[in-house]
Amino acid sequence: MAPIKVVVNGALGKMGREVVAAVLREPDLKLVGTVDAANTLADRTKLELPNGSNVPLSSDLAGMLETVRPDVVVDFTIHEVAVQSARTCLKKGASVVIGTTGFTKDEVSEIDRLARANKVAAVIAPNFALGAVLMMHLAKIAARYFDYAEIIELHHEQKIDAPSGTALMTARLMSEARRKPFERTGGEAAQVSRGDQIGGISLHSIRLPGLVAHQEVLLGAVGQTLSIRHDSTSRESFMPGVVLAIREVTKRTGLVYGLDTLLGL
Ligand SMILES: NC(=O)c1ccc[n+]([C@@H]2O[C@H](COP(=O)([O-])OP(=O)(O)OC[C@H]3O[C@@H](n4cnc5c(N)ncnc54)[C@H](O)[C@@H]3O)[C@@H](O)[C@H]2O)c1
Repeated sequence: MAPIKVVVNGALGKMGREVVAAVLREPDLKLVGTVDAANTLADRTKLELPNGSNVPLSSDLAGMLETVRPDVVVDFTIHEVAVQSARTCLKKGASVVIGTTGFTKDEVSEIDRLARANKVAAVIAPNFALGAVLMMHLAKIAARYFDYAEIIELHHEQKIDAPSGTALMTARLMSEARRKPFERTGGEAAQVSRGDQIGGISLHSIRLPGLVAHQEVLLGAVGQTLSIRHDSTSRESFMPGVVLAIREVTKRTGLVYGLDTLLGL
């Protein structure tokens, strides 16, 4: 079978660089182009690869799609860019794997509509780490048995959004599983220090250099607590999930939201 042709959008970023390396490691995937808006590279048209070869590099995604005609575009950029890039890709008949976080419900629905209309597919996953997906799954199960819950998410200091997409998704899954909000704690005056609230769950965001991506879900009941914690200690942790999504997205039409669906959870 012909290899799956992949373009990486945001290829010079922290995640983009990992995706480039991961795609190069897989014999059934072929890196055909890279896109990044980093200004200093405006006059560079090639990205040198560790194996001594190179691939096209551009800041113009639409132009790249015309030239190399990828099957799949993997996006790790910033929210507004990712939304616009997804529209461009889907309209041009390329499927998308989106790791960029911050997509709203309306944007997710629009991506689904566009993918179906153009007979291609999209995977949007706020977290591509297998362990993190299992953490969310376990938190969802535990949610039915506890009345109190808090989430602490910890990320590197350059992360722009807060709370993280994973924390928001965990809280939503937990309150849906419970079918009623968790018990709120603290008076009105304390709420400023109690973080964002989703379904009665307080979300706390820590940003520090030295961290990658970490999350702890804490559940409480009389005389006991349960902690479910996941740590991504390197960005490589996301790559098996990204590679799985690239393979799966070529077999489908429409949107898959979350890696859990691809893992059959
Ligand atoms: N889903 C997951 O598992 C997962 C894991 C880690 C990070 N993320 C998310 O991935 C995104 C990227 O994170 P990062 O740490 O790699 O950030 P980063 O800042 O290191 O990289 C972003 C890259 O996007 C590029 N960019 C900006 N505007 C662009 C445009 N118009 N066109 C093309 N490229 C453009 C930047 O130049 C940069 O190289 C964030 O939203 C982050 O939350 C998701």
